[in-house]
Amino acid sequence: GAPAKADISKLEPGQQMIVEWRGKPVWIVRRSEEALSNLSKIDGNKLADPNSEVPQQPDYVSKDANRAIRPDVAVLVGICTHLGCSPTYRPEVAPEDLGSDWVGGYYCPCHGSRFDLSGRVVKGSPAPTNLVIPPHKYEDENIIIVG
Ligand code: FES
Repeated sequence: GAPAKADISKLEPGQQMIVEWRGKPVWIVRRSEEALSNLSKIDGNKLADPNSEVPQQPDYVSKDANRAIRPDVAVLVGICTHLGCSPTYRPEVAPEDLGSDWVGGYYCPCHGSRFDLSGRVVKGSPAPTNLVIPPHKYEDENIIIVG
């Protein structure tokens, strides 16, 4: 299939945009300083695969808490690794329905899987692995080519 192109020049911190690639939604999120700071503080023991050892991403994407080429921009396939629902973007901290330990991430409404803002799955979720990161590159500072 053809690559997808995303222009992130107007994407504000905290905002997510969606492009379609091979019939799948790909999320592109501009992460705020606060979101990155919260990510760095997540206890790896609470995650199923904190260092992204299960191959769910290209080699050139970092395996730290950011799982990104550029820390401020996350690129993720928006499909739950459990049974394929599309999780909901929930960037807020400690919302009433998700609890006080929620520091922003993705919540899958189908069976309750929880992922952080890098798509790392929280232990105890039905989803077995982190969200997939698609192959992608920067054509320039504001243009991402997915695929
Ligand atoms: Fe997401 Fe089951 S499909 S938790």
